[in-house]
Amino acid sequence: MTDSTKQILRVQGIHTYYGLSHILFGISLDINEGEVLCLLGRNGAGKTTTMRSIAGFSPAQEGMIYFYGEDITALSANKIAKKGIITAFAEKRVFGNLTVKENLEIARRDNPRKKEHGIWTLNKVYELFPVLEGYAKKWAKNLSGGEQQMLCIARALMSNPDLLLLDEPTIGLAPVVVDDIARQIRKLQEEGMSILLAEQNFLFASELGIRCMIIDTGEIKYEGTFEELKANESIMKKYLTV
Ligand SMILES: Nc1ncnc2c1ncn2[C@@H]1O[C@H](COP(=O)(O)OP(=O)(O)OP(=O)(O)O)[C@@H](O)[C@H]1O
Ligand SMILES: [Mg+2]
Repeated sequence: MTDSTKQILRVQGIHTYYGLSHILFGISLDINEGEVLCLLGRNGAGKTTTMRSIAGFSPAQEGMIYFYGEDITALSANKIAKKGIITAFAEKRVFGNLTVKENLEIARRDNPRKKEHGIWTLNKVYELFPVLEGYAKKWAKNLSGGEQQMLCIARALMSNPDLLLLDEPTIGLAPVVVDDIARQIRKLQEEGMSILLAEQNFLFASELGIRCMIIDTGEIKYEGTFEELKANESIMKKYLTV
C-alpha cells in the first residue's frame, strides 16, 4: 500500500445485535483516506446499524474494527469520537433550544492530527453553508428539515473529523436542497475528507462516490463501482429501490 492509498478504516466481519435480534451478519468494508464509500440498501437493511457499530453506539459483538490500524472495536462511543470518527445521523442531532451559532460552537473540538489549514472554524463552516451564517442567531428548532440536516453536518465538521459517517443526509429533502447538500459534500471531497455515506438515493450517491457496497438483511451483497452497478440491472432491482 502506498501513502496515497492509506487505509483509514477497516471493518472485518462484524456481527451486531439489538438485544436478542441479530442484525449484522459479518459486515466487512475498508475505506481509504480521502475516499467516499457509499453504503446502499433499502429500509431496514442495516446501514445505520453498521454506522452505529463503527461509532461505538451499538458495539459489534464479533469481528474487528480498525481505525488507522488501531483496534477500536471495544472502545466507547465517546473515545471513538475523540479519535476522529464523527457521525451525522439522519435523525435530528441538533439542540433545538440553542441558536445555530451555539450549536456549532459547542461542537468544536481540536484534532491534533489536523494541520492548521485544515481546521474547521465557524467561518469555514459558514463558507460551506452560507444559509447557516444567515441564521446564526435563529433557534435551531425553527430551521427547516434541510437546514437542520446542514447544521447536523456542520456540527460534525466543527469537531474536525478524520472520518465522517453521513447517514442518509438527503432523507425527506426536496430535490433542490438535495442538490445543495451534494455540492457541499463534493467540496468536502475536494478537501480530502474521508466519508462513509449511507444512502437510499442512488443518483445522489452515484454522483459522489466511486465505490459502493450494497447491504441487505445485514450482509454485504455487492461491492463494486457505480458504473458496474448501473450496468447490473438484476442486482439493482433485487436490492435497491430505483
Ligand atoms: N433499536 C433497535 N432495536 C431493535 N431493532 C432495531 C433497532 N434499530 C434498528 N433495528 C432493526 O435493525 C434492522 C436494521 O436497521 P437499520 O436502522 O440499521 O437499517 P437502515 O438500513 O439504516 O434502514 P433505513 O434506510 O430505514 O434507515 C431493521 O430490521 C430494524 O428494524
Ligand atoms: Mg438508517
